[in-house]
Amino acid sequence: MSYSPYLLKGQKALVTGASSGIGEAVARYLALSGAAVAINYHSEAEEAQKIVDEIKANNGEAFAIKANVSQEDEVKAMFSQTLDQFGTIDILVSNAGVQKDSPFVDMSLEQWNKVIEVNLTGQFLCVREAAKEFLRRGVQPHISSAAGKIICISSVHEIIPWSGHVNYAASKGGINMMMRSIAQELAPHKIRVNSIAPGAIKTPINKSAWDTPQAEAKLLELIPAKRVGEVEDIAKAAVWLASDDSDYVNGTTLFVDGGMSLYPGFADNG
Ligand SMILES: NC(=O)c1ccc[n+]([C@@H]2O[C@H](COP(=O)([O-])OP(=O)(O)OC[C@H]3O[C@@H](n4cnc5c(N)ncnc54)[C@H](OP(=O)(O)O)[C@@H]3O)[C@@H](O)[C@H]2O)c1
Repeated sequence: MSYSPYLLKGQKALVTGASSGIGEAVARYLALSGAAVAINYHSEAEEAQKIVDEIKANNGEAFAIKANVSQEDEVKAMFSQTLDQFGTIDILVSNAGVQKDSPFVDMSLEQWNKVIEVNLTGQFLCVREAAKEFLRRGVQPHISSAAGKIICISSVHEIIPWSGHVNYAASKGGINMMMRSIAQELAPHKIRVNSIAPGAIKTPINKSAWDTPQAEAKLLELIPAKRVGEVEDIAKAAVWLASDDSDYVNGTTLFVDGGMSLYPGFADNG
């Protein structure tokens, strides 16, 4: 797929957790495709500004905006500033996420709450604000055939159980039913709501799983494609889901995982 600056021309996007990893790549690819992008960050202001500067140097439009997605007042302020800056919004990529891993019986309520608050409640808060603006504005046929596009970044762990990561897997399983229920409710308004479920993608969140040859070899046992994913694999899928090329796709999870969700352990008869 080539990146045409016309594919998302005139569209305004907000990407949460865009100061690192998958969110950063999604923001860059949306900008390459012609969208103006609000780069949300939580703690990495410098990183976020660097991405903004690079997008601008490439003739794109972007600005950085700090908000903790798990805090309702901060999410409302982020959307209000984005609307002030861009006039409206057409695309939300709800990506910010964290892991707080622990054996189940040792998992503290704090670890449980933190992951649910950022990964699930954070998506609820952001999707709700985006949907309000899509409903207020409606379809602009010269911009897109949809009134708005929402992309929730989930994980293969919305279907694959994950020992030692009960909070994370529960948050991603929650995203699946949240996304589909919102899609069902908003479809009549021409709002499309979908998820991307990445497999193992090389980012800081899972560095220990791929940053030594031994760790990578162990990880590759779980990946039929026999390569660890790159952030661009997810960014390209996000551009497609944000564009009218996926106009008939609503309420679905697109697994971008090199086949990780195909139960590779059963490939040799189990
Ligand atoms: N990498 C993978 O293999 C993989 C696989 C499946 C799913 N995912 C999902 O992909 C998403 C992105 O993960 P990643 O791998 O790109 O991780 P990452 O490199 O660690 O990036 C996480 C991003 O989330 C932001 N963030 C964290 N807490 C936040 C909060 N409370 N409010 C706003 N932003 C917050 C961080 O912002 P600051 O740095 O500014 O604090 C950062 O930009 C997550 O939802 C993750 O679950 C990743």
